[in-house]
Order: sequence, then structure tokens, then C-alpha cells
Amino acid sequence: MKPKSEWRILVVDDEPANVRFLERLLEYDGYSDLIVATSGSAALGLALGNQPDLILLDLHMPEVDGYEVLDILRSSAGSNVYLPILVFTADVTVQARKRALQLGASDFLTKPGDAQEILLRVRNFLMIRDLHQQLSDRNSNLEQLVSLRTRELEDSQIEIVERLAQAGERRDDMTGEHTFRVSRLSAQIGAAIGMSDRDVKLLKLSSRLHDIGKIGLPDSILLKPGKLTRSEFLEMQLHCLIGAQILAEGRTPLLKMAERIARSHHEKFDGTGYPDGLAGEQIPVEARVVAIADVYDALTNTRPYKPAWTHDDAMAEISNQRGLHFDPLMVDAFFAIMSRPENAQFSTND
Ligand SMILES: [Fe+2]
Repeated sequence: MKPKSEWRILVVDDEPANVRFLERLLEYDGYSDLIVATSGSAALGLALGNQPDLILLDLHMPEVDGYEVLDILRSSAGSNVYLPILVFTADVTVQARKRALQLGASDFLTKPGDAQEILLRVRNFLMIRDLHQQLSDRNSNLEQLVSLRTRELEDSQIEIVERLAQAGERRDDMTGEHTFRVSRLSAQIGAAIGMSDRDVKLLKLSSRLHDIGKIGLPDSILLKPGKLTRSEFLEMQLHCLIGAQILAEGRTPLLKMAERIARSHHEKFDGTGYPDGLAGEQIPVEARVVAIADVYDALTNTRPYKPAWTHDDAMAEISNQRGLHFDPLMVDAFFAIMSRPENAQFSTND
């Protein structure tokens, strides 16, 4: 506990003689940071502006009385600050005690009062305040530590997912730009259709793993220039199931979402996609989002089997596939997003 000289005590009494008595008593005992007020309104100004550690308060004062001071101070104090207010009064009626205690008085001292008792009570309440402060400091340290650890955990999740995505990309997209762009567009679509901030964050990250299953495809298929044969195309489709297997039985919402996306991002809204032939809302919403971002990005970039399409051609194709390949809701959100100024780059790159 800090020394007595460092505790600030506010003494409030309209009788100067009482103020002097308390001041002398406290000074004698070692308290030197004393502030005094001889009216309720002055007490309020000092209490709110000088943050005393304890208040000795008279009840009966003209104009703003001690009850009012109590009421205002208690209703303006923060919940994590403990300010002891000791009422010091000649009014010994039960009603006065009850009312003062109801308004938040910490204790009740009767005038003229015993010097030793006053000092003991002051010290006891300062000890309680000290314990409160220690507790609240410890709590805020703990909160800081928890939020630091949470951030570290999130950062490490992000890092691991990005590394995993990069590992998957190494064979056909050394730069990793495809999954990066798909993840960025997916997050924008997710936000536009009203996903929660948390889900958008998860989507942004987990969508980077949508093609992780390509790790399991042979080069002859993955890097083949030109069109795949029927059997090669069937083998290519396996990347959804391989990806889902890699990510299966994850315990975190991130991995669960990544698994849904890896498995279902080639499903089509009309039920003609793969691997499960799901239709409409049977397709996980995240996969319906990624489907459109993935196709747009694949169309507008060069692939071993095709040149890059223009933005306008890709948008026309997506519009044609509204309700067929793509969920109409996602198509509408996508068009709205692409008309935003921050996405002007997409149309000017043509
Ligand atoms: Fe894919």
C-alpha cells in the first residue's frame, strides 16, 4: 500500500471549524494531500476534477447538501472505480443513516467523533480502495495478455493457412496470385451478401485453400496445355474430394469452412456441378461465393489451356450463368462490387 502522503482526501463541511479539525487530524496522522470544500457544489467540482481517493462528507449543508453530492458522485462514477465516501455528520437519526447508505455512503461517522476511530476508518477504507485498484490493474493486465495471445494465435493460423495455400500453388501458380485474388473477391462478396465480420474473415482465409486438393493431381493433368480428355477431366474433378480429405475433421471453424469450400466450389446452382451434384442452397454458402470469384479470376487470367478473357467478356459470361452455374444472389452482389470505384482496376486492365 502506498504511503499516507500519497492518498488524496477531500474534506467537505460547511462549518470551517469542522474542516480545520479534520484537516489537522489527518495531517497529524501523515496525510498531506488534502483538499477541502465548504459547500456541496465546490465539493462536486473538486471531486470530479481532482480524483480524490476518499471523501469525508458532511450531510447538512445549504443549497447542495451531502445527499445530493453522494447521489451525483455515485451516478457519475465508473463501475471499476471504488471511491470510499465516509459521511461525517451530527445527524444521528435512523432515516439519515439509511438514506445516506442507500445513496452509496461507504460508512457513517457521528460528530463530533473520536479521533482514533476516524483515522482507523479512513485507513481501512483506503486499504479497500488499494485492493480494488490492484485487482482492476491485474484484470486489465490479464485482458491485455489475452488479447495479445488471441492475436498471436490468429496470426499463426493466418500464417499456416497461407503457407499451406502456397504449397498447393507451387506447381501451377508460383506467384500464388490466383488464390490471393479469389480470397479478396470472396471476402467482398461475403460482406456484400451480409455475412458477419467474423465469417468474412474466415472466408477470406479459408478460400485460399479452395484448390489445395490439386496437390494430389499429376502434372500431366494439372499442367496440360489445351483441353482435357473426358477421363482426364474426371480425374481433375478429384481435386475437390482430395482437398476435402486434406481438410476433413478440422476442429476450428476455419478448417471446417475450408473443407466445405474445397469440396463444393465446383458445384453449380442448377445441380449440374461436381463432386456431389448439389443444387441451390444445398451448396454451402461459402462455396457459392467462392465459385463466382474463382471462375471470374480463372476467366480473366491466362491458363495453360486458354488465353485471358477481357473483364467485360467474363462479366457477360457470369451474367449468362445467373441461376445456372451461379447463385443469382451472388451474381447480383458481384456486379455491385465490380461497379465500385476501388475495383475499377478490373475493367481498365482489359
Ligand atoms: Fe477448383
